[in-house]
Amino acid sequence: MSTIERAIEKMAHAAKTRQEDAVVPEDASPIVTPVTAPLGGDVPLGSDDLANIADGAAAQEQDAASSRIQLNFEHMASVGMVTPDAERSQVSEEYRHIKRPLLLNAFGEGALPQSNRNLIMVTSARPNEGKTFTAINLALSIALERDRTVLLVDADVAKPSVARVLDFPGTAGLVDFLADHDRRLADLILQTNLPKLRILPSGRRHSHSTELLGSDTMQSLAQELAERYPDRIVILDSPPLLATSEAAVLAGLVGQVVMVVEAEHTKRDELQEALALLKPEIYVGLVLNKSDRPFGADYYYGSYGP
Ligand SMILES: Nc1ncnc2c1ncn2[C@@H]1O[C@H](COP(=O)(O)OP(=O)(O)OP(=O)(O)O)[C@@H](O)[C@H]1O
Ligand SMILES: [Mg+2]
Repeated sequence: MSTIERAIEKMAHAAKTRQEDAVVPEDASPIVTPVTAPLGGDVPLGSDDLANIADGAAAQEQDAASSRIQLNFEHMASVGMVTPDAERSQVSEEYRHIKRPLLLNAFGEGALPQSNRNLIMVTSARPNEGKTFTAINLALSIALERDRTVLLVDADVAKPSVARVLDFPGTAGLVDFLADHDRRLADLILQTNLPKLRILPSGRRHSHSTELLGSDTMQSLAQELAERYPDRIVILDSPPLLATSEAAVLAGLVGQVVMVVEAEHTKRDELQEALALLKPEIYVGLVLNKSDRPFGADYYYGSYGP
């Protein structure tokens, strides 16, 4: 049995156990047992494949954040993002579907047993598959509709893009905190015009930025973020797992991983290779991105866990 088949089997079991144990909030859709499609080969993944891999039903911040940025919702809507005015848009519906199991895992009665379960890393096997798009939309969706504060962290320090995509000027951020022990985190976190959304930008370029991500300071920061405000979700926009080594290190710090799979592009063996880099007890959700199927087939969500 391949790694991924074992993972899928565990995922099915974990999902079933959680469903039985969990008191599911009214608006939560349960995680559906995935079908065990054999994976392997050099074939791009499509939406049918993802349906088989894992079917989808599959704080109050007290720090005084230093500056406030203004998100341009009109621009964001024009590029297909979740915005406050487009509650019933397709993208909003899709992200509702994606976030539910993540929130249940973090806060539900059947929450995951592992630490840092409120830390969610968004990654993919290769570059350009939609990690930043997914991380931002997930953060927006949770901040807009849930009684949860969200901290979106641009942890792709070698190739940051949250500020560019959301169109706000680059400021000091994660790298500055990791490189300079005198920096206070609270001074680096940006408030936004969405009261429940805060952003920690990547910060300045640094020749050892990737080493900084693997540092003890980063590990303490992850723990601090997870524990100081346990009712907050932290979403890390991250580098791709197969193109960098720091992504696997980051994955060791979080409780949940959202693995973005680009429809008709991501190769099965690459996905398998990327999943094999994650610790076995981590919860992994698969999101099929850039699918041209209508809603319902766009995103499939599944998980495996202990
Ligand atoms: N679901 C989507 N619908 C439309 N455009 C999308 C979608 N997902 C991603 N894109 C576009 O695809 C491109 C790559 O997306 P994004 O930057 O999110 O990928 P990434 O995985 O973060 O890339 P990198 O590895 O460079 O960080 C961007 O132009 C983005 O706007
Ligand atoms: Mg990116």
